[in-house]
Amino acid sequence: MSASVREINSASSEYGRLLDVATKLDQAKYLTRDYPMANSQCILGAYFQETLVGLLLLLRQDIGADRGLPPILRAGRVLEEAFVEAFGVLPECRRRGFGHELQTAAMTICTGWDCYQIRSRSPVLSTENYQLKIKMGYSICPSEENDSYYFTELV
Ligand SMILES: CC(C)(COP(=O)(O)OP(=O)(O)OC[C@H]1O[C@@H](n2cnc3c(N)ncnc32)[C@H](O)[C@@H]1OP(=O)(O)O)[C@@H](O)C(=O)NCCC(=O)NCCS
Repeated sequence: MSASVREINSASSEYGRLLDVATKLDQAKYLTRDYPMANSQCILGAYFQETLVGLLLLLRQDIGADRGLPPILRAGRVLEEAFVEAFGVLPECRRRGFGHELQTAAMTICTGWDCYQIRSRSPVLSTENYQLKIKMGYSICPSEENDSYYFTELV
């Protein structure tokens, strides 16, 4: 298998293809939304032989900022996290390792951002994602929103 994960710039010509894939995954709304709480963000694309087959949107934010909570400091520095806001692989390309590769690349970016943790939330019907997160060693915490769980891993 010839797979790769690359960052996609929202100003690049590739962005149109990304939106097509996001629409097929019913996740385009996450890519077009503004994230005022985010300190920065990054979009990753998974490719199979130069064809875009999956995506992941990562937000860099102060821990607690999305809930209006005061920052947590360590050695005088605000602790940040990377939050996975969108994540999916086209149905016909699933179970070939692309999701795992996207998550691994996200973790590398999270390390580069010097974040404390990586976190995501997904509804209880996302059984494939739950299995992936368990395989990758994430902790699981119930969310009070829309029948969902949070998944967190320290960087
Ligand atoms: C979650 C998702 C991104 C996984 O993508 P993927 O490319 O199929 O994942 P991978 O092939 O890398 O799978 C990695 C591991 O996850 C687990 N897994 C993934 N799909 C699974 C399934 N259908 N059943 C059981 N385990 C599964 C397995 O442990 C798998 O490892 P293995 O194949 O060696 O057993 C994909 O299923 C998807 O897009 N789902 C719909 C959108 C979604 O749920 N997004 C996240 C929440 S919003």
